[in-house]
Amino acid sequence: MNRLLSSSRVILVAAFAVSICGLGSAVHAQDLNGYWEVRTPNQNGDGTFRQTFFHIEQNGETISGALIRRPNGIPINGTFKDGSLHFVTVPPTPPPPPPGQPPRRQMPAITYDGTLDGGKLMLTTRGRMGEIHSVGEKVTKEATEPPAALPLPVLKDLPDNGLAKTPPMGWNSWNKFAGRVDDAAVRGMADAMVSSGMRDAGYVYINIDDTWELGRDANGNVTSNKKFPDMKALADYVHSKGLKIGIYSSPGPKTCAGYEGSYDHVVQDAKTYAAWGIDYLKYDLCSALEIYKDDAPTLQAIYQEMGEALEATHRPIIYSLCEYGRAQPWTGWGEKTTGNLWRTTGDISDRWESMDRIGFSQIKIASYAKSGHWNDPDMLEIGNGGMTADEYRTHMSLWVILAAPLLAGNDLSTMTPETIAMLTNRDVIAIDQDRLGRQGDRVYAEGPIEVWAKPLADGSKAIGIFNRHPRPMAETVDFGRLGFHGTVHARDIWDAKDLTISGSQTFTIPGHGVVLLRVK
Ligand code: GLA
Repeated sequence: MNRLLSSSRVILVAAFAVSICGLGSAVHAQDLNGYWEVRTPNQNGDGTFRQTFFHIEQNGETISGALIRRPNGIPINGTFKDGSLHFVTVPPTPPPPPPGQPPRRQMPAITYDGTLDGGKLMLTTRGRMGEIHSVGEKVTKEATEPPAALPLPVLKDLPDNGLAKTPPMGWNSWNKFAGRVDDAAVRGMADAMVSSGMRDAGYVYINIDDTWELGRDANGNVTSNKKFPDMKALADYVHSKGLKIGIYSSPGPKTCAGYEGSYDHVVQDAKTYAAWGIDYLKYDLCSALEIYKDDAPTLQAIYQEMGEALEATHRPIIYSLCEYGRAQPWTGWGEKTTGNLWRTTGDISDRWESMDRIGFSQIKIASYAKSGHWNDPDMLEIGNGGMTADEYRTHMSLWVILAAPLLAGNDLSTMTPETIAMLTNRDVIAIDQDRLGRQGDRVYAEGPIEVWAKPLADGSKAIGIFNRHPRPMAETVDFGRLGFHGTVHARDIWDAKDLTISGSQTFTIPGHGVVLLRVK
C-alpha cells in the first residue's frame, strides 16, 4: 500500500538526508540491497507525496525483489549496470472474483529507470501522465511494515441514526475528478447542482471523496491539503446553497489513494468533521485490510467504532460503509454499526462492461435493503462519456429499481441537456425514492433479456425490461408472470407515454437498452 507524507515532513526528511549524505556518500557505495522508501509527488499539486516501499536484492547486475504490498508483494526484476538501474514490476494475475462479483482488474506493469546517486535512488516512470520522478532512500525493514492493529470495541447494536429514510441523493467527486478534486471544483458542483435543477429534483449531498487530506497538526487533528484551504468555509458555502456536504476517510492509516486515514484518531476525526459542518461520511476500508482480519466481526467492530464516534457528535451525519461487499454488511452487521448504506461490490468505471457486471449481479440481496439502510452498488457514471445514451438509461433504470443511492459522478457544470434530463427525470427518481423502501429484484432472465421489478407504495410496480445484448431485441413480456392480471395501465417512463396492456406485449429494446415501466 502506498503511503503518504505531508510536505513538511518530507522537507525535514530531505534535510536530514542531505546532511548525512554530505558526511559519507562513499559509505553508500553502489549497493542496492535492502529496503527502500520511494516518495513520488502526487500529480495534482496538493503538496503531498505517495510513499512506496521496495525490497531490492542485487546479485551482480541482476535486480530482483518486490514492491511491498500487503498481503502479497509485487515481484520486480531488472538490471543495474554502469550506474543505471532499470526494473519492472510483474503484477500477478488476479484471482477469480467471489460469486456474483465482477472480475478484478489486472494491474499494469510499471517500468522504473534511474540512478543511484549519493545513496539516493532517482527514479523515473513513464505512463499516461508523462514522466514521473521519484526519490528513494534506504530504510529499515520495520519502516516498511504497517502499524499494529489497535484494540477494537466489543460488538454491540448501536441505535439507528434515523437518517437516509430514502436512498441518499447527491454527487461524489471520485468518478470524474479522482485526485483532481479541489475547493473550486466542489463549489462549482454546488453551484451547478442548483442551476441545473438537480437540487430541485432531490439531489442534496456534495461529497468530497479521497485526496482532500494532508496529515495531522501538533494536536493530532486531521488537516486538509493545499487543494482545500478551509474546510469549514467550504462547508458553509455548500450549506448556503441549500445543500449538504460529505467527506471521506478510512479506518486504516492510509486511504486507498495513499492519503491520511483515521487510524488511531477515529473519535477525534468524527469531532473534526462535525466541527466543519460535515453531513455525510464515506468510510473506506483501504489500508485497514493490511492490519486487521478480513472477517465480518472484525469489520463490524471497525465500522462500529466510527459509527459510535459519529453518533457522539450529535450531528446528523449519513454513514456510508465502503468495504466492497467483502463481509456482506447487508446481512445485518452494517445496520448495527449505524450504517445507512454499504457498498456491495468493487469500484464501478465508466464502461458498459463494468456497469453491466455490477448492476446485473445485484440479485438476491433485495430483502436486506430497507428505509435507513441501503445496498450501494457504487456511484453513477452517467454523463462521463464512456457509455451510450441507451447504456446510461440502463444504468439509471437499474439503479432506481435497486433503490440504490443516486450519487452522480460526473462534472455537473458541463452537462448536456440529455444528461440533465436523464438525471432529473422525476418519474424515474420517484421509483428510487419510493416511500415503501423496497429494493427491486430480477424476476427472470432469458438469454440477454432480464426483467426486473420493484414494488412501490401505491401498489404499482416499476418494471425494467433490459437488453444486455449490444443489438436491439424484441421481447414479448407476459404480464401475468409479473403478477398482473386482466388489463393493466403502464407508463413507459423514458418515452413518456401511456400504454394499456392485456396479457402480453411485445417491446423492442435497444442494444444495451431498457424499457422502464410503472405498471398498475
Ligand atoms: C476506493 C473506493 C472508491 C474511491 C477510492 C478513492 O477504491 O471504492 O469508491 O473512494 O477508493 O481512493
